[in-house]
Amino acid sequence: MTKKQDNETKEEEEISIMDLPGVGAATAEKLETSGYGDLMSIAVATPGQLVEASGIGETTARKIISAARNSLEMGFESGDDILKKRQNVMKIKLGCDNINKLLGGGFETGAITECFGEYGSGKTQIAHVLPVRLYKQDPSATSVFIDTENTFRPERIVELAKGAGVDPKKVLKQIKVARAYNSDHQMLLAEKVTDLINKKNLNVRLVIVDSLTSHFRAEFVGRGTLAERQQKLNQHMHVLLRISDSHQICVYVTNQVMSRPDVFFGDPTAAIGGHIVAHSSTFRIYLRKGKKGSRVAKLVDSPNLPEGSTPFYIETDGLKDF
Ligand code: GTP
Ligand code: MG
Repeated sequence: MTKKQDNETKEEEEISIMDLPGVGAATAEKLETSGYGDLMSIAVATPGQLVEASGIGETTARKIISAARNSLEMGFESGDDILKKRQNVMKIKLGCDNINKLLGGGFETGAITECFGEYGSGKTQIAHVLPVRLYKQDPSATSVFIDTENTFRPERIVELAKGAGVDPKKVLKQIKVARAYNSDHQMLLAEKVTDLINKKNLNVRLVIVDSLTSHFRAEFVGRGTLAERQQKLNQHMHVLLRISDSHQICVYVTNQVMSRPDVFFGDPTAAIGGHIVAHSSTFRIYLRKGKKGSRVAKLVDSPNLPEGSTPFYIETDGLKDF
């Protein structure tokens, strides 16, 4: 592909990174394996990221990025088109009005929702409630559960399905579970979600990663490894973002907190993954334990909703209003 005019008549998918000047088979492979396998991810990358990822020189990186930018129809859409698109947004309701209200109706498709909080705060419980509730709303929809801590419990799905008044066996059939044994495996599984959609023809509407950060946290210890960890997390979030956006999928990720010894006033906890995870998530919920065995969900970041918080209970048959 040499002339820009040629590109304009072709579908975006037909142009590959091999069509970029200076990208031969070897470089393409390096770029692909480090998460820059499509034009968009290259177009939005910095030269430094490409240099680090593929070992090419900085001048080449600049040229590649600029060519990727030129070849993409960096689509400006009119506001009414986006509004139309947003009418296809589905909101997964939790069966707990307060939380639904907090989230403006429920967990949105086409977005990443991050839930962070201390152990036992209910992050994994929500990860079990979501596929059950999705089934109740749309029995044809499939949920994907990427399980990094071996916390997926079909027995819990059965209880919650009974609580929601749906057939537990049918719900379990609509959930595809994969254990991720390390961070690379986890990243690969996220990329494979598109295979379920394109090759197996599944109507995937929900992807859960529980927990998003535990492998990364365990594998990259010590200060010297922080940059690498953040770069990999960034790639992972990028893949999840693309899945959510291009297939109208609700992505739900859980995240632990660490204590911050430097904070004396207010809440001395901070989410793992820092700005990378925070900025890639569309909605962020902070969960904590409240009074009398309750939990408190606080919406801390959202593009269109006010911050707010609400208490709720975790019960055998589901989440309940306080
Ligand atoms: P970590 O993964 O350890 O960071 O915690 P988490 O936030 O994922 O916690 P999780 O969602 O696993 O919450 C566990 C809590 O949910 C338990 O402490 C129980 O209080 C509660 N819970 C789990 N199952 C049930 C149940 O069937 N009935 C009731 N009432 N509570 C439950
Ligand atoms: Mg958990």
